Amino acid sequence: MGVLPVLDFQVKSIVHDYEVNFITDSYAILKNEIRDGDVVIMDQKIKELYPLISTAIPKNNLLIDIESHEKQKSYEGIIPIINELIESGFRKNHRLIGIGGGITQDITAFTASIMYRGVMWIFFPTTLLAQGDSCIGSKTSINFGEYKNQVGGFYPPSRIYIDLNFLDTLSTADLRSGLGEMSHYFVVSSEEDFKKYKKDYAFALKDKTVLANMISRSLEIKKNYIEIDEFDRKERQVFNYGHSFGHAIESLTDYAVPHGIAVSFGMDMANFVSVKMGFLKSQIQKDIRELLQQIWQGYDIKHLDVYQFREVLAKDKKNVGRELRLILCKGYGKVFKTPVKNNDQLHNWLREYFNQELN
Ligand SMILES: NC(=O)c1ccc[n+]([C@@H]2O[C@H](COP(=O)([O-])OP(=O)(O)OC[C@H]3O[C@@H](n4cnc5c(N)ncnc54)[C@H](O)[C@@H]3O)[C@@H](O)[C@H]2O)c1
Ligand SMILES: [Zn+2]
Repeated sequence: MGVLPVLDFQVKSIVHDYEVNFITDSYAILKNEIRDGDVVIMDQKIKELYPLISTAIPKNNLLIDIESHEKQKSYEGIIPIINELIESGFRKNHRLIGIGGGITQDITAFTASIMYRGVMWIFFPTTLLAQGDSCIGSKTSINFGEYKNQVGGFYPPSRIYIDLNFLDTLSTADLRSGLGEMSHYFVVSSEEDFKKYKKDYAFALKDKTVLANMISRSLEIKKNYIEIDEFDRKERQVFNYGHSFGHAIESLTDYAVPHGIAVSFGMDMANFVSVKMGFLKSQIQKDIRELLQQIWQGYDIKHLDVYQFREVLAKDKKNVGRELRLILCKGYGKVFKTPVKNNDQLHNWLREYFNQELN
């Protein structure tokens, strides 16, 4: 790949600041970065697709390869990893190096946060979702039983290396999942940002320069919020837009709908409820849906049961008491948190939503 059109940047964190570097040679960077005692946690698929990367790891360093699925991102899933770390002589001054998508990230970050009360971790994101969103922001949640991201904390990496070459082998579904995940930042940001994203979307999968700029802008929007509210107490919560509904879709389909695609449905559901509650003009809902439909194309959520859906919504971490707290939309750049009753009216809206023709 030629010259990268985007610039490295730094993220300020209450714990410690960290650099995000755009790179083109992961092999060389890993070889240079890895020290005695560091342990690499790598997505098995990356190990198979990019055999050269593993050769950058000296023989004395442990390589743990993991299967990337949501069940692995759990206490049960990380027990063997912790066992291997302790048995191999991993120490507090050693580091974990994660290479993979958002699941590898959450496993690496969560494990780093609890090992010996915290060890350093470095991350090479290999999916669009991880490159354009999850790699910054310090969140480290794992799943608990059937409930998504219920256990975790905030624990920033020491460094992120983004290599767009990894995206060449991603499936269309995973590329769209990344585009779906990134799209919520652009609605939260402004009409200008969203309109540009919608226009660029058509070229994103054909032109790496366009994609690189979308990733860079997505991270820039996120950075501006996490630097003022790293621990998700106030301003940052708007980025849960699409996520309460999205997580419910993931849980009820047993993760058959990839995260970013579930978020694209979730944003549309949030917009639908926003129109019903009189917050949002239906024209804006339609304009946003035009983009989201291209992202969720081929996925269907018609069969979801409204009673079960409401039950999962009721478990969302943002809720207060029995009332839901949803992130709704009044327009571009006007996404906000509001109480919503989990009652018959919501039930009817959800039923109406699932009965629509979405594709
Ligand atoms: N910590 C955070 O802030 C945060 C933010 C957003 C999402 N997440 C979490 O991230 C997860 C979703 O991330 P994801 O979509 O990256 O999932 P993932 O890590 O499972 O990757 C998706 C699929 O792509 C494969 N893959 C990875 N890199 C590849 C490559 N270069 N080429 C081909 N295949 C490749 C993986 O094996 C997997 O099958 C969810 O669990 C979500 O909750 C975390
Ligand atoms: Zn997300």
